[in-house]
This record gives sequence, C-alpha cells and structure tokens, in this order.
Amino acid sequence: MTSNIAQEALMPTYKKWPVTFVSGSGSYLIDTTGKKYLDFLSGIAVCSLGHCHPKVTEALTSQANTLWHVSNLFGNEIAPQVAHELDLLIRSDYLDTPGKVFFTNSGAEANECAFKLARLFGGRGRHVVLSAYGSFHGRTLATLHATGQPEKHEPFWPLPEGFSHIAFNDYKAFENAIKGNVAALIIEPTQGEGGVIVPEPGYLRQVRELCSEMGILMIADEVQTGLGRMGTWFRCHIEDVVPDIVTVAKSLGNGMPIGACWAKAEIADLFSPGDHGSTFGGQPLASSAALATLAELRAIDAPNRAMEYGKILKDNLMEVDHVIEISGDGLLLGVKVGGNFAQKVAENALQRGLIVNPVRPDVIRMAPPLNVSDAEITEAISKFSDSLKESLSNNG
Ligand SMILES: Cc1ncc(COP(=O)(O)O)c(C=O)c1O
Repeated sequence: MTSNIAQEALMPTYKKWPVTFVSGSGSYLIDTTGKKYLDFLSGIAVCSLGHCHPKVTEALTSQANTLWHVSNLFGNEIAPQVAHELDLLIRSDYLDTPGKVFFTNSGAEANECAFKLARLFGGRGRHVVLSAYGSFHGRTLATLHATGQPEKHEPFWPLPEGFSHIAFNDYKAFENAIKGNVAALIIEPTQGEGGVIVPEPGYLRQVRELCSEMGILMIADEVQTGLGRMGTWFRCHIEDVVPDIVTVAKSLGNGMPIGACWAKAEIADLFSPGDHGSTFGGQPLASSAALATLAELRAIDAPNRAMEYGKILKDNLMEVDHVIEISGDGLLLGVKVGGNFAQKVAENALQRGLIVNPVRPDVIRMAPPLNVSDAEITEAISKFSDSLKESLSNNG
C-alpha cells in the first residue's frame, strides 16, 4: 500500500516493473515481500562492487560524520584525490602528461561538460558534435540531441543546435561527415543502451587517428563501459586508444551519484573560472564513495576479474538453448535470443528472482557486479535458462 502511494507521487517517466526493493547486499536485492533477487544488472552497470559494499559504506559513513558539502567556492580534500586516481586510470601507460577532471552528478552532465569544452575548442562557426545512430548520451536537451535515436527527439523539438548523426562502426561515414563546422565526435566505444553493440576491431583506432589528423576532438562516452567492466579500465584501451575527453559516471560511486568529465590538460584549460559549474559536483560525501570505489576496483583488479568471469558467464550462456549470439566484452554482455521475446524472458526471470534487462526486442543485457561468484553465475544460468524455456512454451 505504502509503496503504491509512493509510486503515484512520481512523474510518469518510467515504465516500472512491479517490484519495490528495500535492501541489498552483494549481488542480491530484497523486495517488500522479503523475496530475494540475484541482480545481474547492478542498477544498470552502476553497483560494480555489489550492493552496500562494506568498504564504500564505511567510507561514506565516516565522511557523513565529518563533512558532507562545502560548495565549489572552497576546496575539499577528497575530490582532488579522486581526480588524480581517475587520471591515472584513464592515461594508464599511454599518456605522460596529466589531464584534468570536472565532477558532475550524472553521466548526462559529464557529457554536457564535454560539449562545452568542444565549443570552446572549435570556436564560433565550428561547433558541431557528431555522434552515432543508436547511441545513448543522456536525457538533458543537448545530450538527447547527441543521442542517435531520432524517435526520442521527436516530442522535444526544437533541440539545441549543433549535433549531427552518423552510422556507428562505419569509418567512411565518419570521414564523409567531417565538414568545416565539426569540432568533435562523441562515441560510446561499445553501445550499451543500443543493444551492447561492439564495433569492428580497429574502428576506434581509425577514428582516433582521423580525429588527430583533422583536428577534431574525440570524446569517449565511457559512462557505461568504463572502470573495468569490459576487461580493461576503459573500453577504448582495448585498442590502445586514449581519447581527448572521457566521460564516466555510473560505477564511479558504486551507486552514490557522481560523474566526471576528464580532458587532456590543454583542452581542460580552455575553461576559465565562471565558464562551467555544479553546486554538488565533487562534494566530499559523493567523492568519498568514489575514492573508496576506485581503491576497491583496483584491489580486486577489476579489469582482469571482469575478463575472467565474463568468459565464464559467456561460455555458460552459449550452452543455453535458444541463445544464438552473445555480444560485449567482460561483464557487459548482450544475449541474443532466437526471437523477439527478450521482454518476456526478463519478466519471467524477475519472477524467478533474477534481474536482467531487455535492450532490444531480441537482446537481453547482463551486467552483474564485477565481484560476482561462480555460484552466482551458476544460479543465474539456471534461472535464465528456465525463463527462456518458459517464454518459448508460452510463445508457441
Ligand atoms: C553511455 C551513456 N552515456 C550517458 C548516460 C546518461 O547517464 P545519466 O543517466 O547518469 O545521466 C548513460 C545512461 O545510461 C549511458 O549509458
């Protein structure tokens, strides 16, 4: 009863599944009736260390008793440490000169920051940001326009000017789209919401090279793919590519809202005081969660763990009847089934206590915590397989 009233008080922007959660621990969630669910979505690739991870909880609790917020008119001791850690991970062995970070509260805001840098970089008349069809970059008006899904634009015209779309994974299309007014390309190195679509090997490298050659910024939206989930700290690293700007969010705070826009120093320094800002961005409380999350992701060697357990999950999924293809790397996988019943499979899985998510009519996304166990994978496979069978028997 209480939960129904609570839902009706919210704007109808989400088609909610009929479950309300009250607690979580590790890879499991508990709903209002006490039923337990194995979470193979991690709040959409957010809780990479599982729910209520003890080290992140401890850091948050300690910070909550010390200092929550001071505004960006003053310094705090934690945000710069998170920026330094992120910078090291993004540059890895590829780049010597440190970059700089702007903190946000979400992925969309991290991309907005990147777009403003692109405008300063290009100057008047050279302001267009290219992006790919099928991409997802956020729900603010600018990130919505960058999102390459015209049907999502339709109700909200006019959208901010300066975005144009090209085919994903098509180098020629990118080359042909470069006109004098183009300042940047924003690209998800693997499209997440679009269905876990991985580009051909070599594509990101070619894109990087053409951006450098033409003096265009390469912005990698690693909001979903970043921080170890795909078997490297950043998905672009699979091709030894370091973009000019990288945006992150989702897993940065393991569920605490925090995002970041990283840029090479010479691009970051295009900003002057007053050009950009955020009341909450980089506040001590959210930053403490990010600092603890990054330390723990390093401690478990997140990229290697994602690679190892991603292979186990993929191998097991390939054995399931009616799974016809698996896309993705590490622990961000798109499971293609032999028909348009991904929604039904996810509904059946939920009933059986497994959380997965349909991203296309025939593709189900799996993004379990990176510290998932062998036993949890076995449990997920069994529930997924039963859900798939049930969907097929109802279908036919
Ligand atoms: C690749 C990508 N970019 C940006 C966003 C937007 O992030 P947020 O919802 O935190 O604004 C998302 C969210 O799903 C995403 O997957």
